[in-house]
Order: sequence, then structure tokens, then C-alpha cells
Amino acid sequence: MWFFLLLVLCLVYSLWRLRYFASNGVKTLVPVPFLGNLTAVTFGRENFVEVIEAGYNKFKDQRYFGIYQYHVPTLVPRDPELIRRIMVADFHAFSDRGVHIDQACDPLFGRNLIMLRGSRWRTMRAALTPAFSASRCRSMAPLMAICAKNVQIYLSERVREGIQLDVDEISTAYVNDVIASCAFGFATDSLQDPHNCIFRLAKRAVVQDTTQIMKFFGYENMKTLMQLLNVKIIKSSDAEQFGELFKSALRARRAGAAPRPDFIQTLVDAAGKATTGAENFSDDDLVAQAVLFYIAGYDTTANLLNYFLLEMAANPTIQEKLQSELDQLPGSHEDKEAYDSVQGLEYLEMCVCEVLRLWPLVGAADRRSVARYDFGPNQTGGDTHYVAGAGVHVWLPVYSLHRDERYWAEPQRCDPGRFSAANKQHILPYTYMPFGTGPRHCIGSRFATTAAKVFLAQFLRHYTVSGGGSRQLHPRAFILRPKHGFTLTVTPRNNHISA
Ligand code: HEM
Repeated sequence: MWFFLLLVLCLVYSLWRLRYFASNGVKTLVPVPFLGNLTAVTFGRENFVEVIEAGYNKFKDQRYFGIYQYHVPTLVPRDPELIRRIMVADFHAFSDRGVHIDQACDPLFGRNLIMLRGSRWRTMRAALTPAFSASRCRSMAPLMAICAKNVQIYLSERVREGIQLDVDEISTAYVNDVIASCAFGFATDSLQDPHNCIFRLAKRAVVQDTTQIMKFFGYENMKTLMQLLNVKIIKSSDAEQFGELFKSALRARRAGAAPRPDFIQTLVDAAGKATTGAENFSDDDLVAQAVLFYIAGYDTTANLLNYFLLEMAANPTIQEKLQSELDQLPGSHEDKEAYDSVQGLEYLEMCVCEVLRLWPLVGAADRRSVARYDFGPNQTGGDTHYVAGAGVHVWLPVYSLHRDERYWAEPQRCDPGRFSAANKQHILPYTYMPFGTGPRHCIGSRFATTAAKVFLAQFLRHYTVSGGGSRQLHPRAFILRPKHGFTLTVTPRNNHISA
């Protein structure tokens, strides 16, 4: 009897929470008690970008619509002009991210730039920005080229004729080596030594299983309970090991070890000059930013490589055109001039942009309002305004915008020509945002695309990919990936290039 009464009370509460958008004149997909619009996501039938896509396509006449992440109302702006206001012009009202896990909940994860808020975010962002500048990426490119060369050596010993390969094995090893080298300051070769300690830590830190994703939804919906249960995103023992690895490299560098053009050096140099604000942070803060490369940059960059190869396999004419461009590179490009030579490859750049349009690894960027806000009328020319107090969650529907036929002819087709110098100026602003936009856009975009280009230029000079399976999205993936993986046929090209 009491149980039944409690259930009814919970149901009434849930239905009341799920009335929020309707009572504010915002259209939503029909929510289910307790699960909101995430039933299919919770039971592993759909990826969350497919839920956003369903609303995006259903409410074509609306400037925005609502989605319930369980009970949390989340506004999805569809109109590029409204997106500009939220992300750029009125950033002061949307400076926070949706999910917030603070240091009290997770001392390592809660310190990283993605989680920081307000003035602490601003100071940290300013302090880290020089580490991702064009000149820093240029000096890190040779470190990346060494990692890409290790992949070539590994493959040349094994791939003598066409073989089936899950290219994710190669790309994650490469990206791990790049981050170990550029962020933590030491060399690994994860294909030859897949058990190196930082690779094992990385795989655990970014693990994309259901438990990890549910932790984020948990923090968004039941923060107090999650805190009481002491749920951490990164296991304490892993956090300690990451800390020890980074701090030992930092200590050595401060003690005068030979400088290296990496993230640690940027921090040490910045502290020396005391001009950027980096000196205001503790070593634990700095460890968190190094681990951030893994949290934000590992799966994203690896899956950029994977999806790139998947698209090349499915589009042999594009692959051939790209390979003709790569064949023009001097044999030495793998080394010192890595940055300049890959940056100069126009068709490679166009292909990277197009792959990121089709597969924007982060399918939805998030924000949370910090002030009362008038989102304007729900329809162009309408007079029902949605006005909300602080705390409204926003999901920017990047995946859907990138596949909207109003902005992209034949949006499902891979066509790098969309990004030629002549064509890209016709792209409507705020319809292409693989790295988000505004003051909180991805800080690592240049690092990621440089690492990707250095790898792809070497790989596709020596190998051709073909085959590939279904593109169906993995329902559990937060960073987009296909349900059935990235297995392709990799065939050596007829060695016309000096190694
Ligand atoms: C292909 C690879 C990558 C993609 C597609 C990607 C995409 C994104 C997107 C969409 C956002 C949200 C932006 C917004 O809310 O406006 C973001 C944020 C961020 N990304 Fe990336 N990212 C990639 C690689 C990296 C790498 C290598 C790093 C290196 C550290 C990185 C660091 C960050 C950080 C720190 C933020 C949060 C910035 C802030 O809140 O101030 N990302 N990324």
C-alpha cells in the first residue's frame, strides 16, 4: 500500500517536472515518466544525437525545441541566429557548461578546463591558450611525426599485402603516443608496447562504457546523491598515477632537464615569465590540464582518423585524389617540416573538414545559462517568447545542423569540394561547428587537426584503404563511433615513395 502510494507520488512528481516546456510554450518530443526523452538512449537503442535529430526534423518550423534529459529540461536551438546569440553575442549569459562536476566530487576531473566556471575558467583558459597556438603546434609537429613514423615501421613489418584491420587499434595507439609525448613529455610506442602504463591509464580514463556515461547523466540529474555515493569519473588510483607521471616530468624540467617543445615546457616557460596566469595554479591544477588532453583529445582525435579512413574507403575517387596530393610531398616531410608541409595540403584540409561535417565527433556542444534570458519567439515572427531564469541547459545540435539539407546539398554525401576556397565562403555561419564556437570553443582544435594530418599524410602515402561496413551509430557512444567498429582492408601502395 505505502509502496504503491510512494510510486504514485513519484509519478505525479515526474509528470509535473515533464510539464515544464509545455507550460512555457516550447515544443518537445513526447516524454516518458522518469526517463524523459532518453528511453531509447537508456536502453541502448539509439545514440543521443539521434534523439536530437528526431526533434530537429520534427519541429522544422520552430526556432528551438525541448528535450528532457530524464527530468532536466534542455533547450535545443535550431535557428543559426539564435545559436550565434547563445554561443557568442550573449556568452556572458551562457558561460557555463551543462554538466558540472566540481573538485569536491572528483579532485582531478573537477579541475579540468571543461569543468571550470566563471573567473577560474577565464584565467585557466587564458593561461592554456598559448599552449595551443600555431607556433606551439608547429614545434610539436615533429614529435607527432615521430609517433606517426613508429606506426609506419610497425605496419611495414606486418602489412605486406591487403589485410583486414580494425584501424582503431592503430589510431588509438598513435593518439596515445602523441599525447604522452606532447602533454606528458615522454616517448611511448604503443603498437610495439601496448602495455605501457600511460596507455592503460588512458584507456580507463576515457572508457566509453555505459557506466561512465551514466555517471555524467547522474551528475546532471542527481548531483547530491552522486556526491554522497562518492562517484568519481576517474578512479582515485588512476588519478594518482597520472599525477605522479606528470609531476615527475614537471620536476625534471624545472630542475633543468633538456627543454622539449611540449605542453610541460609551455607551462614551465610561462611560470618563468609570470605573465600568462599559469603561475597562479597548483601542480594539481596542471596535472588536470595534462589529463584533459586524454579526456577531450583522445577519443575525438582517434575517431577523426577512423572516420576519415572509413570515408576514404567508401570513396575511392576522393582517396586517389588525396593520394596524388600526398605523393607530391618531399620524402623528408615526416621530420622537421611536418607542420608546414601538412598545413600546405589544400585537399587534405578539405577532406578533414568534410569528414568533420559528416562525423562531428562531439555531436552536441552544451551550455547552461547563468542569467535570466529571453530566447525570443518559438517561431520566426511569432509572439510567444520563452523566457527562463538561470540554469537552463542548452544542447547545440551540431550533428543535425551538419546534415540539414537547407544548408548542405545532398548532406549524406561525402564531398570535400564543399570546403574549397571558392565554396566555403558560402557556408552559412553557425551551421558548421565541429569544434563548437564562441569563447568556449575547443581549445585543442589546431592540435587535433595537426596530429590528424601528420598521421593521415604518412598513412595514405603508404597504404590504401577499402571496404568498411555499416555507419549505424553506436547507441552508447558519447564521442561518435559506428556500432560495428572500423574494420577496413589496408593494402600497401606500390612503394614508389622513399620511406
Ligand atoms: C577532432 C578532435 C576534437 C573535436 C572534434 C573536438 C570538439 C570539441 C567540441 C565540439 C567542444 C565544445 C566546444 C563548445 O562548447 O563550443 C570541445 C571543447 C573542448 N575541447 Fe575539443 N575536440 C577535439 C580535440 C581536442 C583536443 C586534442 C584537445 C586537447 C586538449 C581538446 C580540448 C578541449 C577543451 C579543453 C574543451 C573545453 C574548452 C572550454 O570549455 O573552454 N579537444 N571540443
